[in-house]
Amino acid sequence: MADLAETLFQSFKGAGPNGAPLYVKLRRSIEDAVEHGIIRPGDALPSERDIAVGADISRVTVRKAVQHLVRSGILIQRHGSGTFVAPRVERVEQSLSLLTSFTEDMARRGMTVRSEWLDRGIYPASPDEMMILGLSSKELVSRVSRLRIANDTPLAIERASLSVATLPDPSAVNSSLYAALDETGNRPVRAVQRISAANLGEADARLLQVPAGSASLNIERISYVSTGKVVEFTRSIYRGDAYDFVAELRMGGPAARAEGKP
Ligand code: GLP
Repeated sequence: MADLAETLFQSFKGAGPNGAPLYVKLRRSIEDAVEHGIIRPGDALPSERDIAVGADISRVTVRKAVQHLVRSGILIQRHGSGTFVAPRVERVEQSLSLLTSFTEDMARRGMTVRSEWLDRGIYPASPDEMMILGLSSKELVSRVSRLRIANDTPLAIERASLSVATLPDPSAVNSSLYAALDETGNRPVRAVQRISAANLGEADARLLQVPAGSASLNIERISYVSTGKVVEFTRSIYRGDAYDFVAELRMGGPAARAEGKP
């Protein structure tokens, strides 16, 4: 850490035009250190105190520079453990034509998957849930809300609602919702997804470890079992910097018909 602090302060002395405020100079020298790989994704930054002493500036100035870098997503702060260079996310390419689960998608890419529970319980159905799941106002829903994490990077927040008849006990879901549904013969065979762009609010941004206001892809999936009954209504929020959705398109309309295609 002493070496790292020294490197930071060396570049700090030379950084930026002379007239720039100290916190701007410090911010630039940290940005340079990240850009040139002197501090790498996941590395801890020296403590606020070490930087202040080493660079001979006040802790308030250090805090201001660090706060700017946290807001721009270059650094992240973990409560109680310090400030780190934000992990670089590998973009994930997701097919839009396969009905797969998060666990299967990530496993196929050799990524390790885990989830943090945000909520798991039985609730009175909201008007949306009643309409989509075809429930009466007296019926209850099972809600399963998780932060989905692949290779230690939080990628999505998923809030799923299912009728209690489909999922009587939300705590029966361990790592995969689809695996739990498979066990009871309720795995969906078809789904309709609606994707829209949005900007993350404070709370969701904190969970996904990106600055508030970052781009996200919001996806609503309504899935059906083979009888045509709706089995799942899930609202997912995917990090915009981590996901590419890919759809295969085939020629349709008059040109395809002329070629004898359906
Ligand atoms: C995807 C879908 C969700 C679905 C989930 C199931 O991420 N967007 O609608 O609920 O997969 O994943 P798992 O079986 O890993 O819980």
